[in-house]
Amino acid sequence: MELGAFDSSRDLDAAKRVWKEVGWVRSIGEAGWLADFLDGSDCMVARVDGEAECVVVCANGSIRYEEFPDNATDLSMCAVTAVTTSHVARRLGAARRLTALSLAEQAQSGAEVARLGMFDQGFYDTVGFGTGNYVNRFMFDPSQLKVTHPFRAPKRLTKDDWSLMRGAMIARKRGHGSCVVLPEGFSKGEIQHMESPFGLGYFDGSGGELTHFIWGEAEAENGPYSVEWIAYQTTDQLFELLGLIRSLGDQVYSVHMQEPAELQFQDLIDKPFRNERSRRGSKFETYQSVFATEQLRILNLQSCIEKTRLQIEDIRFNLVLDDPVRDFVSDDHNWQGISGDYIVTLGESSLAESGNSPNLPTLSASVGAFSRMWFGIRDASSLALTDTLDAPIDLLEDLDRGIRLPTANSGWEF
Ligand SMILES: CC(C)(COP(=O)(O)OP(=O)(O)OC[C@H]1O[C@@H](n2cnc3c(N)ncnc32)[C@H](O)[C@@H]1OP(=O)(O)O)[C@@H](O)C(=O)NCCC(=O)NCCS
Repeated sequence: MELGAFDSSRDLDAAKRVWKEVGWVRSIGEAGWLADFLDGSDCMVARVDGEAECVVVCANGSIRYEEFPDNATDLSMCAVTAVTTSHVARRLGAARRLTALSLAEQAQSGAEVARLGMFDQGFYDTVGFGTGNYVNRFMFDPSQLKVTHPFRAPKRLTKDDWSLMRGAMIARKRGHGSCVVLPEGFSKGEIQHMESPFGLGYFDGSGGELTHFIWGEAEAENGPYSVEWIAYQTTDQLFELLGLIRSLGDQVYSVHMQEPAELQFQDLIDKPFRNERSRRGSKFETYQSVFATEQLRILNLQSCIEKTRLQIEDIRFNLVLDDPVRDFVSDDHNWQGISGDYIVTLGESSLAESGNSPNLPTLSASVGAFSRMWFGIRDASSLALTDTLDAPIDLLEDLDRGIRLPTANSGWEF
């Protein structure tokens, strides 16, 4: 097996075949958008007998670490947007080795954090990822949205407006955990591959820019509709979009959407239990599902800790960090994961230095578990119960009290 950079003239047709085999497109002809999707991203392939049979794609972007709205830092993020192995190359270790190699390349190019949407729990833990927080997804009847906010007639958006929508996503209101995916090709490809899209938005920018919009799939006349992208710069704009979604309720019986970060969405649904029970099993059922579907990991510990500003008294400890990715990165890379012994200070000015002090308590953790704690996914005491993280009780309690972050919400799925 040969691992290397994707070469469009040599590998594009094989990559389309992989997309077809994993079921991400129904035919190779339908994968025309793949060239756009890959444009501007870093793509690695594993070739077997000269043919690309495993494809891993990373896009550069940023992820926000935010204790309070006035205390936010944007970290450089590698978004792992695709990991795919064809039917003829499964279980050869291609996906794991290629993902590890991609992480090494991204870390060497300056990415501080990596993030992805997982197909299931477990696989990406082996290259150092830890599970993110629960995400609430709602299937609701738009006519039962308790939103009285006025809305204006929107403008129609089409696939040709991908660049305007990308711009609005980048300029949107953002909080802790929110992501931006930068390559234009990513947005263009994602938008092109939708089958029955609908898009509605408002151009309220001072120069007429698109400020708030929804974009998604309209499956059939009466739905379900799914809102895949939503962006707004103010909560007023969010409520205008919700009022607009409500107005579709004369025709559409169900809409699928992720809970916006600033709301407890159930507050806005009339009689959620009556609706859920009476429509159970129907095409237009309404429900709420809660799963953690995203994972993240630190790629550059020193840099992530240095950019962490917590308004607490300093917490100092030894950190013994274990990074399983080292088993899958070849020796010729400078970055071999972030296993090691560190002295960490968390506070208004934070620091991670190599070393070990006999006078400090010690936290031992996998990089996935430590990333979860640092990002505020779960507190240290909770992670000590279910993940690979251990420390004396006093240190666990200090960390529980010290790291109190809002619920992370990526707001841009990949
Ligand atoms: C997921 C996928 C990329 C794996 O490809 P692959 O090249 O066969 O994977 P690898 O050979 O590197 O690794 C397979 C190993 O992971 C293990 N694994 C798979 N799913 C796992 C899970 N949820 N938890 C733990 N281990 C898991 C397998 O048991 C196997 O273990 P082994 O090495 O001990 O035999 C491939 O199945 C695929 O393309 N699936 C469809 C597309 C998809 O869902 N991609 C992921 C998008 S997030």
